[in-house]
Amino acid sequence: MSRSPGAYEPLRPAPFTVRAAAKINLHLGVGAAREDGFHPLDTVYQAVSLYDDLTAHRDDDWSVTTHLAAHLGDVALPGPGDNIVDRVAELLCAAQCGDGCRPTARVEISKTIPVAGGMAGGSADAAAALVALDRLWDLGTPDEQMLALAAQLGSDVPFSLVGGTARGLGRGEVVTPVTDPGAWAWVVVPDAEGLSTPAVYRHWDTLFPDASPEPASAQPVLTALASADPVALAAALHNDLEVAAVDLRPDLGELLARGEAEGALRGMVSGSGPTCVFLCESAEAARGVASALSAVRDVVLTAHGPVSGAHVL
Ligand code: C5P
Repeated sequence: MSRSPGAYEPLRPAPFTVRAAAKINLHLGVGAAREDGFHPLDTVYQAVSLYDDLTAHRDDDWSVTTHLAAHLGDVALPGPGDNIVDRVAELLCAAQCGDGCRPTARVEISKTIPVAGGMAGGSADAAAALVALDRLWDLGTPDEQMLALAAQLGSDVPFSLVGGTARGLGRGEVVTPVTDPGAWAWVVVPDAEGLSTPAVYRHWDTLFPDASPEPASAQPVLTALASADPVALAAALHNDLEVAAVDLRPDLGELLARGEAEGALRGMVSGSGPTCVFLCESAEAARGVASALSAVRDVVLTAHGPVSGAHVL
C-alpha cells in the first residue's frame, strides 16, 4: 500500500485568524500631562467596520509579514523585529514561561486600517496577536491578564480587545463597556501621510500650557449614545486633540468643512489624526457624502459601528 509523503506526521493544528477593528474616539477629553508623560483621558471609543486580519501559523521559526490593502498606498512598515506583534510575542512568552523563552510562529497581517492614522491600527494588530498567539500556543491566558498585557502594549490596546463602545479612563487603558443601542454610519477619509501621536500630544501641550489635569467629561456623548439619535450624537462629538492636529495640518480643517457642506452631520479628526471621520444620518447618506468627497480625496471609505473586539474567525 502506498502512502503520500507526510502521512505519518502528526496533524498540524489549523492556523488561527483573528480579526480586530479600527476605533473612533466619539469623545476625547485630554488633561495636562502626568509625571510619566502620558495625558489623563476621559474618552469614549467605538469600534468600526474597518479591520486588520492576523493569521498565526505553527512554525519552527518566528516571522511577521504584512500585506497592505491597495487603499493604504506605499506606507513605511516596521522592519523585522520592530513590529508591535514582536512585542506581543515577547510579552506573552515571558508572562507564561519566563525570560529566555523563544516564540515561534509565522504571523501574517492583512491590513486595511490606516497606518499612523489615529484609528488604532497598530493597537488592533497587537490585540489580534494576543488572541491568536494565546490560542496557537494553547496558553488559556485569563481575560484579566490579557487586559493587563494589552495595557502594557499601548493605551488603546485593551479597547481593541474589548471592542463595541467603551469608556476609557486613566491614559485610555482602563475600559468599561457602555450602552450603545445605535447603528452609526460613518465616512472615513484616511490621509496619505500619517501623523505621529506623540507629536500631536506635544503640540497640544504647547497650545494649552495651562490645561487642567482633569479631562473634559464624556457624559454628553454617553447621554447622546443612549438616545440612538445621530443628530444628538453629532452635536455631542468632542475631540480635544483636533485643534492640535488641524494646527499641524490645516488642510484637515478644509476637509472637515467640505464633508459637512456635503451633508455629513458632523466631521471630526479621529483621535490624533490625520484620518477624518464624518457621522451621517444613515448608511445611504454616508454613501452620498463619500461619493461627494471622492472629488477631493483619492481614498474615501464608509464604515459602521459599533462592531466586535478582537475575535477568532
Ligand atoms: O500608549 P501608546 O503607546 O499608544 O502612546 C503613544 C504615545 O502617545 C505616548 O508615548 C505618548 O506620547 C502619547 N500619549 C499620551 N497620553 C495618552 C496616550 C498616549 O501622551 N493618554
